[in-house]
Amino acid sequence: MSHLIAPSLLSADFMHLDKAIDFINTSDADWLHYDVMDGVFVPNISFGLPILKSIRKACKKPIDVHLMIVNNDAFIAPFKEVGADHLTVHIEACTHLHRTLQGIREAGMKAGIAVNPHTPVQALKEVVNEADLICLMSVNPGFGGQKFIPNTLNKIKELKALLQQQGSKALIEVDGGVGLSNYRAIVEAGADVLVAGNAVFAAADPTQTILDLKK
Ligand code: DX5
Ligand code: ZN
Repeated sequence: MSHLIAPSLLSADFMHLDKAIDFINTSDADWLHYDVMDGVFVPNISFGLPILKSIRKACKKPIDVHLMIVNNDAFIAPFKEVGADHLTVHIEACTHLHRTLQGIREAGMKAGIAVNPHTPVQALKEVVNEADLICLMSVNPGFGGQKFIPNTLNKIKELKALLQQQGSKALIEVDGGVGLSNYRAIVEAGADVLVAGNAVFAAADPTQTILDLKK
């Protein structure tokens, strides 16, 4: 499988979300990445359910929701209701992660686990078979436009080996500081999905940038 590109709406112009969604629909973007922050798990607040509900009506591509919140279980059903296709929760935020992942799948969504830069890949060992997607954070979550943490490349390789060892088909997604200068190394290390916020939305030609990130 060639790698997928998931532009992060966090870097779009919020005055013109309609244009951002048109761009997602007409470009070679594979998914829309939607970052939800509660101001508690991360030191920032972004957007939540009502905006996703509106976006869902216009967006023709899968919506990949990345929850950066503390109370994940309470929001599984609400995010399904507003049209999330994938729901990713942080391992650091879920006391009963196994149950949360089962709940997401039972609700009819793909279940993802996000992993902060300080969390070892081995912490995923007992849960990878409950997940469809592992999102390795390559920045500390909370903001777009940060610098890629190079050790993520080692974590991708280690995760790839762990998934093989456990017989898991989960996709490896990398989120934060991904752009034209480093995407190739990230894909070569074993990533399946690249989230790109600033690299796409701040580019002079976002459509061409997605094509370039796919080369
Ligand atoms: C950060 C978010 C990312 C962010 C990526 O907390 O999870 O999805 O939007 O933005 P860039 O690609 O600009 O680092
Ligand atoms: Zn994200």
